[in-house]
Amino acid sequence: MARRQLVLAVDVGTTKISALVGEARPDDDLAVLGIAATPVVGMRRGLVFEVERVALAIRDAVNRANSMAGTEIAVAGISVNGDHLTLTPGRAEIPVRTGTVRDEDVRMAIHKASQVKLPSDHEVVEVIRRGIAVDGFRGVNDPVGMVGHALAAEVFVVSGLGTVLRNLRRVVTMAGITPIGVTAGIKAAADGVLGNDDRQLGVVLLDVGGGTTGIAIYRGGHLQHLGVVPIGGEAITSDLAVGLGVVAAQAERLKLEYAQVGGSRDGTVEMHSVNGQSLKRIEIGELEEIVEARVEEWATFIEDQLRQVEWTKGPAAGVVVTGGGSSLKGLVSFLVARWGWPVRVGQPKVLKGLSDLSRNPGYSTVVGLARGLVGPEALTGAGGEWRTWLRLFMRRWLR
Ligand SMILES: Nc1ncnc2c1ncn2[C@@H]1O[C@H](COP(=O)(O)OP(=O)(O)OP(=O)(O)O)[C@@H](O)[C@H]1O
Ligand SMILES: [Mg+2]
Repeated sequence: MARRQLVLAVDVGTTKISALVGEARPDDDLAVLGIAATPVVGMRRGLVFEVERVALAIRDAVNRANSMAGTEIAVAGISVNGDHLTLTPGRAEIPVRTGTVRDEDVRMAIHKASQVKLPSDHEVVEVIRRGIAVDGFRGVNDPVGMVGHALAAEVFVVSGLGTVLRNLRRVVTMAGITPIGVTAGIKAAADGVLGNDDRQLGVVLLDVGGGTTGIAIYRGGHLQHLGVVPIGGEAITSDLAVGLGVVAAQAERLKLEYAQVGGSRDGTVEMHSVNGQSLKRIEIGELEEIVEARVEEWATFIEDQLRQVEWTKGPAAGVVVTGGGSSLKGLVSFLVARWGWPVRVGQPKVLKGLSDLSRNPGYSTVVGLARGLVGPEALTGAGGEWRTWLRLFMRRWLR
């Protein structure tokens, strides 16, 4: 029987845990065999606050994804989210002793480039390879076998607060899953929705989640900036709850049904008051004003991040918004009007298996995580060591 390479990915989001069981196809693409999301309480802005409740949600999402796929995988690649994530650039140059670049030279250059000074209490999450140069020639994709004297590597080291990472691993372990590698959620979301053309042309990816919004900026095929701001869709919901005097669940329902950025609708909606005794009249115009105020504030946070990269004409591939919050009505036109760049909603690119189910923008991160476990980057990219190990492990396990 042919060996199958199966992977499990778990995105520990602020509002939901998503789990995906995927299979690598011969062309290194991903077929989705099982995918599920379980709502979670006990997370705040990407951080675990209530260990047991989060562990239960992880277990539930994983069980459902496994049962759809007919598998029992208990080893997973997981995401870490939150605005503690930091990107530190690193660079190193080493001599090529034999005159021809070998695999170990590349590994050594990347290792040396990764020895950056991190913020205190931070641990490395992953190392993203930005570029390799041989004797000053930059942009070499595969330097192995090239003749030269000096090999330079440029990397970005993604790090996060040690406490957050330890608690994340703990909660995943409590759910009966062995975490085999951690990836920054925003990097995974980018892998889930962006194509090589986007990265080459220049693109801004916004992963609008519940508690946070992740930003990834690519240009010339490389990552330029990664950031997380502590505002997501939940902020709109809580503003509506306070502003309209309704409970959170009602505010969420109002948001999903009526909220529109830049809307100017008249009319009212009736809702039961908190004590359930009387009917409450909500002005749609007032609801829209509350939404718009928060979205305006959110946009200024994003603009602070956009200033980290110098633009001449802006990103040629535009802005891609994804994550559950990207479904907010009117958001795309609001951003087009504000920034003057093309904006589109990014759905995960899944062509095989449960592709329709997987195309929800809320699944971008988990799809990207799974793709990182099976794709070419799993073997060659920086941070690929654990992925290689996982791959070999899964092959052996499923033989
Ligand atoms: N149709 C919709 N309109 C407006 N908002 C929506 C819609 N669908 C989902 N959302 C919002 O998207 C948010 C959840 O997004 P997502 O599932 O990507 O978050 P998460 O991954 O759990 O959180 P985070 O990435 O911050 O850790 C919620 O605030 C939800 O209200
Ligand atoms: Mg998310």
